[in-house]
Amino acid sequence: MDAGTIPAVTAPARWAPGTPDDAESGSSTRSALRNARWIRPAEPRVAPPGQRPAHLLRRTFAVDEQHLAGSARVLAHVTAHGVYEFFLNGVRVGDEELTPGFTAYRERLQVQSFDVTDLLVPGVNTAVALLSDGWFRGRHGFERRADGFGTRTGLLAALVATGPAGRRTLVATDDRWLSRSGHVTRADLMDGQAVDLRLLDTAWFTGGGEPAGWAPVLPAEDALTADRDRLVPAEGPPVRRVEELAPRAVTRPRPGSAVLDFGQNVNGWVRLSELGPAGTHLTLTHGESLGADGQVDTDHLRAFVFATGERLPAGQVDEVVSAGRPGEVFEPRHTTHGFRYAQVDGLPEGLDLSGARAVVVHSDLPRTGEFACSDERLNRLHEVVRWSFRGNACAVPTDCPQRERSGFTGDWQVFVATAALLHDVQVFSERWLRDLAADQWADGRIPTVVPNPAGNRPSGVAFEDASAGSAGWGDAAAIVPWELWRAYGDTGSLAEQVPAALRWVEYAASCAERARHPERAARRPVPAPHERYLWDTGFHFGEWLEPGVPPRPDPTADHGVVATAYLHRSALLTARLAAALGWHDVHERCSAIAAGARDAWQREYLTPGGRITEESQANYVRALAFGLVPRELRTAAADRLAELVRQAGGHLGTGFLATGALLPVLADTGHADLAHELLLDEGNPSWLGMLAAGATTVWEWWDGVGVDGGVRGSLNHYSKGAVASFLHTHVAGLRLPEDPGPAEAGYRRVRIAPVPSAHLTWARTVQDTRAGRLEVGWEVADGVLTLDVTLPCGTVADVELPDGTARRLDGGSHRLRCAHRPPGALAGRG
Ligand code: BGC
Repeated sequence: MDAGTIPAVTAPARWAPGTPDDAESGSSTRSALRNARWIRPAEPRVAPPGQRPAHLLRRTFAVDEQHLAGSARVLAHVTAHGVYEFFLNGVRVGDEELTPGFTAYRERLQVQSFDVTDLLVPGVNTAVALLSDGWFRGRHGFERRADGFGTRTGLLAALVATGPAGRRTLVATDDRWLSRSGHVTRADLMDGQAVDLRLLDTAWFTGGGEPAGWAPVLPAEDALTADRDRLVPAEGPPVRRVEELAPRAVTRPRPGSAVLDFGQNVNGWVRLSELGPAGTHLTLTHGESLGADGQVDTDHLRAFVFATGERLPAGQVDEVVSAGRPGEVFEPRHTTHGFRYAQVDGLPEGLDLSGARAVVVHSDLPRTGEFACSDERLNRLHEVVRWSFRGNACAVPTDCPQRERSGFTGDWQVFVATAALLHDVQVFSERWLRDLAADQWADGRIPTVVPNPAGNRPSGVAFEDASAGSAGWGDAAAIVPWELWRAYGDTGSLAEQVPAALRWVEYAASCAERARHPERAARRPVPAPHERYLWDTGFHFGEWLEPGVPPRPDPTADHGVVATAYLHRSALLTARLAAALGWHDVHERCSAIAAGARDAWQREYLTPGGRITEESQANYVRALAFGLVPRELRTAAADRLAELVRQAGGHLGTGFLATGALLPVLADTGHADLAHELLLDEGNPSWLGMLAAGATTVWEWWDGVGVDGGVRGSLNHYSKGAVASFLHTHVAGLRLPEDPGPAEAGYRRVRIAPVPSAHLTWARTVQDTRAGRLEVGWEVADGVLTLDVTLPCGTVADVELPDGTARRLDGGSHRLRCAHRPPGALAGRG
């Protein structure tokens, strides 16, 4: 119970990942909870979504001195339908936030196991859970629908002592627990949290306080609570409070109101440690931008109801009413917000906000990769991309932390390889892939959002259901496992992941085979043989959000040029993964689909001269990145891509799906100068242009902040930040092989091929990998490029120096040199 809703701060309990005996497998987790029953708070009237209070569930219980003395340790195994905090004898247990996390609850519900040995006392003890709606019953997603997984919250917990005499349940949830609503008068992940500290009695947490207001809990009995097979031990790094930011500036746009600028767009909440005299009612509105009047503006974050177009409130509003107790703190741990600014309204005269902090909250993923170079703007870009990832790595990989907070498949597909250069995302992603497999429809389709409240079937919302299975989004099923394989080389997880990838590929291939786009059918009444693999029907987002192309989610549009490319790509990657597993049939089947789709794409969209019939930067990038252009036409196609960039005034023109591959494709096809030029472009659209306009995270739209200052969409979407991988792989030059063998994946074989540009004098990257630490750095001085490489023992590197010389290096530290006189210096263009 540290600073926050409840005063009386004491040290948190140690986090116990669990031992093989206690929580390594699902069955031991289930067995630890065998004496616990699902309970729910007495809640005679359920308030409207967004307005629902958090409930306290409490049990006072006696512990025999003998049991403690004879126990090696006591673990608290806890989970919930909703979000819970757990307290023992007035101490908040553990330092995890938003437990039990977000998974495909119908199939998989995580159970946390905390070591609480030191928190128990002989005699009377009190266990309390503070339970709110969370993802289970609260609002999230574009339409912010509530009650996605159920209409009742619930708690399941047991304290189990393990000692020489075996295991013994000290207390477990049952009908002897009591519940009440309390000081958290509303709590919702999207709408925000309200706390009335006058309603808090701290004695509740130590078994005291007035008995009035407490009512017996109710049994939570339904099909979901009856299913205990879905209980799994918590997987991977939990969500934690990772960092705190002090306000950089405080402005007073109007009397009684202050705007705190934390200088950085983050995911988390604001902690206030000055709340004013009793009865002071403060309202905190969180946002990413300020209006012309200096107040927080959340209008651009408002989503709408698909069917009616009705605009929805942006939410992100917290409230606190002070009880006037000394040391009182407000910290809303049952919500999170995406924000840089917080506007505090209702300020009494003289209230000191200097202690306010933005608390950065996200999955506590170890940092693994770094990049730096001689151009500070690029270092800043790298950091801004990392902040965007941190803002969107809260229990699941999300699209944005404010408007939807959903696990959009396409977003993670686009970004996972970049994320793996920044942080260790293996278990974080594997957990999400289990949810993806759980939510996969019977026909192999993948919903656009995972975990999905509708589970593995349609939600009944027309747009959502129609958009399930979009190319570039559903392909996460194959591309995410592939990128994890390249980065971590863990064959063990593949066996679990490849079946979902295969079912996705089969689904896409069957769509291609079954149906033809009506316009193509009209043009060509007799289908050409290659059309069997042409995926030109069904809903697809397409490239999505290219500059100047308004989003047009049109189910009748022909996106065959994108979808067929992805059919090839996913089939190819699934074939390769199957090969790594020795699954020959799957390998054969997917290789055949990959070859068929490649042939179909070429016949339909590629001219004999290497032009794509539907020209766009994105289509050329995709074709070249996915190997759809035959070797003899690659130069022509790449030259045409470069020409399109020039025709666009030297600006990029890619959208959601292809942006991450734009610079690598240019650099790898003889257009390195152009790649660097785009990287340094500060015009519109460009990455450095975003930074110049003040971005501290990557925008969803290239023109997220227009020249007129108008704001559009989310200002924290990581997809376009996939450019950061170019800094690692090309600017510094540390690359994973395109198709590593089982002995090479996970950085046991790498390619080192820096692509220096005239405006840089040095660059370096460090990567902590399963194979060990790799370091690559180069420097140019007096016409000589010096490359320093450090490899762990067992890693082999194929080095290509900019002068064309090649070397193979083994573990150890190496210094190589070559003459390097780049053509005329490039300058950043405004
Ligand atoms: C989300 C995206 C997502 C897209 C297409 C948007 O509303 O924010 O990031 O991928 O929809 O589904």
